[in-house]
Amino acid sequence: MSSEDLLREIGEEISLCERCGLCKNRKNAVPGAGPANAEILFIGEGPGHHENEQGLPFVGNAGKFLSSMLQAAGYDRDSVFITNVVKCRPPSNRDPLPEELIACAEYLERQIEVITPIIIVTLGRFSMARYYENARISTIHGKPKWAAGRLIIPMFHPAAALHQPALRKTVEEDFSLLPHWIEKVKEKKKKEALLPVQSSQEEDGGQPEQLSLFG
Ligand code: URA
Repeated sequence: MSSEDLLREIGEEISLCERCGLCKNRKNAVPGAGPANAEILFIGEGPGHHENEQGLPFVGNAGKFLSSMLQAAGYDRDSVFITNVVKCRPPSNRDPLPEELIACAEYLERQIEVITPIIIVTLGRFSMARYYENARISTIHGKPKWAAGRLIIPMFHPAAALHQPALRKTVEEDFSLLPHWIEKVKEKKKKEALLPVQSSQEEDGGQPEQLSLFG
């Protein structure tokens, strides 16, 4: 089966999913959107009002801001894959509950397996928590680490910058570095492809220091 078919299949399962209570109030599940071979995967928190209406991720104000930052960094929104840790809207946009995150986690794992992005950008604390235990976004935002052969970049949720204008510049700066990180990852992969024995150093859960990432 092609990656596109596999992703479609996961999306169809999500739209019928009843693994947690969030299915009760959904109008549309929001599996995610983007090409099956995207190099960059963005993981947000969960659908809001507009996403629930349209069945598409990040189509409200936070989504518009996300699109504009992508464009400023030189990316077409359609070239990246965008999804969330929970695929159905939490009532009144409350935080997803632990049992909802657990119920939905397998869908995200499978999406990552199919897409095989080289960079995963976590947007906000719930997706960050998949890769960082007890970390504070204010400390680690924009500082990537390796996990399972891909670069994980924690970033503030775009909505945070809309609610706290003082954060806007920081969020924009973190986004503007995306092309730099993509280039670094590609250089590293090219170098590794030329080496007879591949280093497994980066497979160990990652290193927090930016400078040692590509040394
Ligand atoms: N916020 C999110 O985290 N995800 C969306 O899809 C929309 C807003």
